[in-house]
Order: sequence, then structure tokens, then C-alpha cells
Amino acid sequence: MNQSADTPVRHAYDAWAGQYDSDSNKTRDLDATCLVEAGLDLAGKRVVEFGAGTGKNTVWLGQQADHVLAMDISPGMLDRARDRNLGSHVTFIEHDVTRPWPVASGSVDLVVGNLVLEHVASLAPVFEEAARVLRPAGVLYLAELHPFRQLQGSQARFEQADGTLRHVDAWYHGVSDYCSAARAAGLHLRDLREPADAGITVGSGAAPRLLVMQFAKAAGRQSV
Ligand SMILES: C[S@@+](CC[C@H](N)C(=O)[O-])C[C@H]1O[C@@H](n2cnc3c(N)ncnc32)[C@H](O)[C@@H]1O
Repeated sequence: MNQSADTPVRHAYDAWAGQYDSDSNKTRDLDATCLVEAGLDLAGKRVVEFGAGTGKNTVWLGQQADHVLAMDISPGMLDRARDRNLGSHVTFIEHDVTRPWPVASGSVDLVVGNLVLEHVASLAPVFEEAARVLRPAGVLYLAELHPFRQLQGSQARFEQADGTLRHVDAWYHGVSDYCSAARAAGLHLRDLREPADAGITVGSGAAPRLLVMQFAKAAGRQSV
């Protein structure tokens, strides 16, 4: 299946794929820790992960859940993920998260997205699809580069072979943008955290590294 637009983001991640896991990257590493410590109920569950990349988090999701469908726009990142051989209950597909997902309505317990929405201009299609595929009381878990960091100039980037930095196209989303998109899609906020590297004090100039959110679909809401 190929439902991916031929975008600069896709090309950038194809170029980054070979070194994504071995580069020094505090955001990637903190993100992995946060997901494991989130206390998500995964045993026996069906999970959709979007922007799965090289499968860094898919490994852990696949160890806990019954089934994981992991989507990404970059064939290069997906090649790395597939090389992990996570088992027949984990499926990787090339798919642009802003397009309708090949997933039945109300069929999923948990949707997970880590460090992806920075690369998506409009949040609405992603939240709408997450809400559609989730069963009643299902959960959307998101971890993103904190918008404070975006305002300080942080953006996904990697060092190329010639030593130059390549920045990946990024869009700004504030906390209220995420909450508004969720509310419009029929999801409510159930948890919000702002993990940082070390103690943040007033005037230090430090900012939280990640914005970690959980949204839930109402228990009685019917799938559309
Ligand atoms: C910073 S990486 C994060 C990968 C992984 N989730 C992790 O935490 O290590 C961002 C990933 O999002 C993917 N991505 C970006 N835009 C996307 C889109 N529109 N649809 C699907 N995947 C996308 C990229 O290809 C890349 O693999």
C-alpha cells in the first residue's frame, strides 16, 4: 500500500533513516522513556501507531499489545523498522497520517503518535481519524516537541555526511491547538505532562522538552 505524498518531509526522513537510531538525540530518548512510563493499558489491546519511524517505540508496543499497525510516510524509516522483525502481530505500512487511515471505525483501543505532528500542518485530519478508529473509551497518546522549544528555535534536524545540518519542515502547534483539535474531534483531555531535562526555574531560560498528552473518546460515543 502506498498512500504517501511525495513531500520534503518524506525525503528528509528517508535521508535521516540510516543514522536516526545512532545519532545523539535527547528528545528521541526522553520520548521513549515517557511512553514506557505512561502507564498505558496495552495487554491484549489493538494499537495504531502513526509516524512510527524506525520502530523505536513499536518494539515496546509490540511486546505489550496483541496487534500493532504502524504507519509512516518514509519508506527509508520503515525499512529500518521492518528489519527489527517484531513478529506477525506487528504490521508496518507506508501511509500519510493526514490521509484517511486504512483502519475500521471503532476497532482500536489505543492510537499512539510520537514526535510526528511537528511535521503536519493541520492537526484536524489526524485527530478526526484517531477519533474515528478508536473504540468508545479508547485513548490517543501523543508526545511532541514542546511548543516552548519550537518558539526557542528547536526543530527536527540531523547532521549530513558533509557536516551541514538539514532541518525537516515543521509547523508550530500550541497546547491550545492540540486541545482544540481534540475537542472538535470528540476527544477529551485525560492527562498532560511537560517533561524536562532537569529542574526548570524562573529566569533560567530552560523549557520543557516534551509535551505529552492523552485524550480519550467518550465511553458512550458511537463510531461514525
Ligand atoms: C522524529 S521521527 C519520530 C519517529 C518515531 N515515532 C520516534 O519516536 O522515534 C518523525 C516520523 O514521522 C514521520 N512522518 C512525518 N510526517 C508524516 C506523515 N504525514 N504521515 C506519516 N508519517 C509521517 C517521519 O517519516 C518520521 O519517521
